[in-house]
Amino acid sequence: MEPELSSVILVKHLERHNLMNGKLIFTKDQKSFPVYNPATMDIIGEAPESDFETVHQAVEFAYESQKNWRKVDAQKRGYLLLRCVDLLEKHSEELARLMSLETGKAIRTESRVEVSAFINALRFYSGLGLELKGETVPFNPDMLTITIREPVGVVGAIIPWNVPLLLMAFKIGPAIIAGNTVVLKSAEQAPFTVLRAAELMNTILPEGVLNVISGDGPNCGAALVTHPKVKKITFTGSVEAGRSVYQLASEKLIPVTLELGGKSAMIVSDDVNIDRAVDGAFASMRFTRQGQSCSAASRIFVHENIFDEFLKRLKQKLNVLKIDDPMDETSDVGCMISSEQYERVQRYIEIGKNSQNAEAHECGVLPNDPNLKKGLFVRPVLFTGLSNQHQLCQEEIFGPVACLISWRDYDEVIDQANDTNYGLAATIWTNDFHRALDAVHRLEAGFVQINQNIVVQPGLSYGGMKNSGLGKEASTESMLEHFTHKKTIIANLKSIK
Ligand code: NAI
Ligand code: MG
Repeated sequence: MEPELSSVILVKHLERHNLMNGKLIFTKDQKSFPVYNPATMDIIGEAPESDFETVHQAVEFAYESQKNWRKVDAQKRGYLLLRCVDLLEKHSEELARLMSLETGKAIRTESRVEVSAFINALRFYSGLGLELKGETVPFNPDMLTITIREPVGVVGAIIPWNVPLLLMAFKIGPAIIAGNTVVLKSAEQAPFTVLRAAELMNTILPEGVLNVISGDGPNCGAALVTHPKVKKITFTGSVEAGRSVYQLASEKLIPVTLELGGKSAMIVSDDVNIDRAVDGAFASMRFTRQGQSCSAASRIFVHENIFDEFLKRLKQKLNVLKIDDPMDETSDVGCMISSEQYERVQRYIEIGKNSQNAEAHECGVLPNDPNLKKGLFVRPVLFTGLSNQHQLCQEEIFGPVACLISWRDYDEVIDQANDTNYGLAATIWTNDFHRALDAVHRLEAGFVQINQNIVVQPGLSYGGMKNSGLGKEASTESMLEHFTHKKTIIANLKSIK
């Protein structure tokens, strides 16, 4: 382990910087915005509000660097990424602490887990160099007809704040291995952990392969999307921003992958072990992350025969959570990311409470430490009595709020699960093998699981249907499909002397 740098010192080192062409660049004359510790609402530092000119510089560096990077053999690219992985691993505690500071995520249950998932994802990509294979086609005996996989060029990546490092890995990993260079725009709320990880990686990668800039969405993000030398966009965030990105990119006719929101259904039959299903709901709702997850099982359909018992046990589980200082080893849950998200979630909770027949089951206790009194802590809330048509069951809340809906008829519950604009994830819990298989075929979602709610795994394609997005991430196939261009080559083998 390297000696751990205190998060405060690190932020001082990183603030008001972008990372371009291998170096941290101080943005002296640039506007900036404050970054908060959401557990106290103290400002921890300033991050640059990069303008069009800065985006342009970053893209130019990436563009120049790509000319050489694409010629580095693919295994060597993987070897360099593997060396990054080793270095990041040595700094994992430092990255986890920095993440907890700027996102409010609990260090033990969330930040360390994410740093480890980030490193694992990059390790997975580092081994994919030799998978960049093409095909041979038996077109004509006198001709050699092949396809090869080429990099697309400069990739623009835009990430949100909820799992910044993991999403960084899913974007830069495939891009870099496939011979592209990257300009990544961090999220306004969480710029520092991503910048620090990129700084470490830049001690190993050639200059300009990985550039990270901080800025807002409508200006900086949009400038990245529209820049003529950016040849692919990979975006994770809200449906609204995703649509805007897609529209802008369509002008340039470049490929786009979008990983957007969700309103995932979990269907629990009455033949299951209730404790196991409750554990699954707990994990899938990411209650330890204050529910800030795109795949959160925020609509939990429980068979009427076990509904009351399921609710009772889930409440018991939530009631003993320690919601407290994100940096404290004993905290199970930290706080939400920003006042904006906090208020948004409170609005939804109010709407729910004021709805007919609704009952709000608020669980756990808020911290009583006076230092945290301004912190954005929210108690988990389970709503019962709402129909699937209700606003809380149709709109993404992105907070620790789940709706429990009782069901009796299997066909009806499948219809209800599919009755949403989203289609990211879904789960069926049952011991009836035929029902489980039937459900996985009928559920309209990109990621469907039986009797478990595990999170995205490197190697398995991840991405949604409907408004949840376009394209997949996290797998070998998605690297080939979304981060390379397939070129067809025909060589005439007959002599033309
Ligand atoms: P957002 O979609 O506005 O921000 C995500 C990223 O997109 C940030 O880097 C932001 O700067 C960028 N961005 C925003 N507008 C853009 C534009 N017009 N062009 C280019 N880039 C743009 O998400 P926000 O405001 O932070 O959260 C709002 C809601 O979005 C959440 O409550 C949640 O429902 C959803 N969301 C979904 C996420 C997911 O994992 N799919 C992650 C974060 C938010
Ligand atoms: Mg936004």
